[in-house]
Amino acid sequence: MRLSSVERAMLAGEQGRATQKAMEILVALGTIYDAEHMVPVTSVQIAGVSYDNLGEAGLHFLTQLQVGGGKARVLTTLNPAGMDVENWQKLGIDPGFAGKQLQVIHAFARMNVITTCTCTPYLSGNVPHFGEHIAWSESSAVCYANSMLGARSNREGGPSALAAALTGRTPAYGMHLDEERRPGITFVVEADLVENDDYGGLGKAIGERMQALEGKPVPYIRGLKQASLENMKSFAASLATYGGAALFHMKGVTPEAGQFSPPGEAISISAADVVKAKLELTDGDPLQADFVSLGCPHLSIKEIARIAELLEGKQVVKEFWITTARPTKQIADRMGYSQVIEASGAKFAADTCCVVAPIKGRFSALVTDSAKACYYAAGKNQFQTILKPFDEVVLTAIGESHQEAA
Ligand code: F3S
Repeated sequence: MRLSSVERAMLAGEQGRATQKAMEILVALGTIYDAEHMVPVTSVQIAGVSYDNLGEAGLHFLTQLQVGGGKARVLTTLNPAGMDVENWQKLGIDPGFAGKQLQVIHAFARMNVITTCTCTPYLSGNVPHFGEHIAWSESSAVCYANSMLGARSNREGGPSALAAALTGRTPAYGMHLDEERRPGITFVVEADLVENDDYGGLGKAIGERMQALEGKPVPYIRGLKQASLENMKSFAASLATYGGAALFHMKGVTPEAGQFSPPGEAISISAADVVKAKLELTDGDPLQADFVSLGCPHLSIKEIARIAELLEGKQVVKEFWITTARPTKQIADRMGYSQVIEASGAKFAADTCCVVAPIKGRFSALVTDSAKACYYAAGKNQFQTILKPFDEVVLTAIGESHQEAA
């Protein structure tokens, strides 16, 4: 790899032990992927924040970098942690776990990492522009940033994202290169989609077909007439989960789509394909479900406003977690949405989510509108899952069926 004089100085330890370690990680990564040089990054997002995933070894690694003088050189935020940093007691988090999680957060803070813990950093001030090179690690956020924002990020691991933060660089390979961003397969969507769970079903249907294709080509999607930000964060999360995709182009929706002609090889996705994908994510009975969660990926303020509208004057009959970023929760506080939601008995779980929190064994079945949450709730926590449209998830939490509410 060709390194600049500054990068060589970092590697030689002239800027401290932590920067040296970080540059060693990036050079090793770049060598594996045949990168010719590094590119400067403007933004970093670090996953692997929950102590549930990090464990003692991860905490030790972070502490060593912090003690070694590591400081983020560019805007850097965190993925969700294992608990709401302010409200963990109400969510039933073990105090021993909470103590370790706070040590993790403090280690990041001492390295100048902004401790906003969210998988939708683009809703909380970490918003790269078109064409910017970034190093993000949450898969749904990487897919959203590459596709919807036109920024350029590989799917980083936690250590390589932190290394990018401490050096301001990442190896130039994969999504950073023009040729790797060209679409290789067209998907023609012949279905009218409205709800987030529809888009999650579409992501699963396309993603599973992509897995069967040689070389995992970048998908070019056409046929959708409109999609909201909330729809697209759900779609990006699902496509990344089921297809391992870091980038898609969508005609009329994503900024790079106009640079390309649709590839000749095309696969149709029918309404029945989307319905089938959604049905495959329900294996539990909503009446028996003991856990309800919205916010995978983290909720926008618009979604929280809708939850407040539906919960006004009602009481929940199931454990109901509202997962979002702390700054979004603070807007909800100011608007009075939080008070309405908490009066219903629903709980905010800011900074965390129903997948990274240590809740295995506490519940048996999850109701959600997120195809990604279904995947991890089943795989990581062995919960049954029930996928429903957004409003119906809220109605399930208060014990009302869709028909009763209408
Ligand atoms: Fe975010 Fe957790 Fe879902 S990190 S994308 S809410 S699994």
